[in-house]
Amino acid sequence: MRNAAITGWGMAVPERVLTNADLERMVETSDDWITSRTGIKERRIVGPNDSTTSLSVAAAREALDKAGLTADDIDLIVVATCTPDQFLVSQACLVQAELGGNAGAFDLGAACSGFVYALAVGSQFVQTGLHDRVLVIGADTLTRFVDYTDRSTCILFGDGAGAVVLEATDAPRGLLSTVLGADGAGNKHLYIPGWGAFVPESAELFPEYRPYLQMNGQEVFRFAVRVMGDAAVEAVAKAGLTFDDVDMLIPHQANMRIIDAAARRLALPREKVWVNLDRYGNTSAASIPIAIYEAAEAGKLNEGDNVVLVAFGGGLAWAAGAVRWGVEGVCRDAACRQRPVVVSEPARALAGAVPAGTMPDG
Ligand code: ACO
Repeated sequence: MRNAAITGWGMAVPERVLTNADLERMVETSDDWITSRTGIKERRIVGPNDSTTSLSVAAAREALDKAGLTADDIDLIVVATCTPDQFLVSQACLVQAELGGNAGAFDLGAACSGFVYALAVGSQFVQTGLHDRVLVIGADTLTRFVDYTDRSTCILFGDGAGAVVLEATDAPRGLLSTVLGADGAGNKHLYIPGWGAFVPESAELFPEYRPYLQMNGQEVFRFAVRVMGDAAVEAVAKAGLTFDDVDMLIPHQANMRIIDAAARRLALPREKVWVNLDRYGNTSAASIPIAIYEAAEAGKLNEGDNVVLVAFGGGLAWAAGAVRWGVEGVCRDAACRQRPVVVSEPARALAGAVPAGTMPDG
């Protein structure tokens, strides 16, 4: 079976730090309340020179470097974001304009679950044989839509981007299982009104209109605790694993109490759960790829390790997957990289255009 190994990873966050002490001066809150209710101590906030594009490009360049590739080697760019710099054109095209190359490029919107959704989509392009190398980015600048007079939301969010490169392999690497779900009826619990084609005609018709992120924190909390556990259990079972086989859980970084509840349910010790929300807050679609980056750079992800990703957020949507870490079977020499890698028979039938033969001879 053809798989999509993660061969490169990158991340970027803005320089500006917003601490709990800063927030104490802005709204009626305290470091103690924020820390005990969320686990967050500080977050990174975009400045005038940052954008979803600039963060995505920085993360993507690092991921390409780590994979030993350039943008010309990439067949497809998928950017998961709910805060693109503009609607027309896509965020992915803005990123490609900076990176170079002519890869196909499109955006995917699934809010905080976006990166895991995009990883599933990107992996499928590789698994079917349609593409050999895909760049998947999760990036958000939600603080541009945060009301800094609303203490129930402004303490939570930060900005950032993370990226991974996917490459074909016949070894069991990359995404082994995928769980995607949504409860669209829950859209009212977490949304940004008035930022899209639907524009309120008058303040009379829409007295509640405010172009800021709106959230029913308690509803989202209850939903998150339930789906994080359920989706992770399903992803592990679908991969034919048990939680004894899991080396690392990388959850969406929204609230320490949500992560703790999931870890307790899955009976995972604290050292097997990656947590960085104390430093970044909730970076939405960037949260999981930033955590992947940090875990990899800390040497905590080794060849053959089983990693479980699980995310939830606006939609309300959720996504999980079991990933086998490592690059076994990925073609590394230059000649091979210019040609299609091993393509299975079903994949060849799907791809249609891929010529007969397996491993290239030159
Ligand atoms: N500082 C001090 N007090 C506060 C603050 C604050 N920053 N915010 C709220 N409070 C007060 C409330 O006014 C309330 O006061 P009251 O009892 O006098 O009415 C009290 O604290 C308790 O408020 P709750 O909303 O019940 O607090 P809770 O324990 O639920 O924590 C929180 C709130 C942190 C928002 C929590 O509900 C949460 O994390 N929910 C999930 C949110 C989330 O993960 N969202 C992102 C989804 S991802 C995406 O797609 C973007």
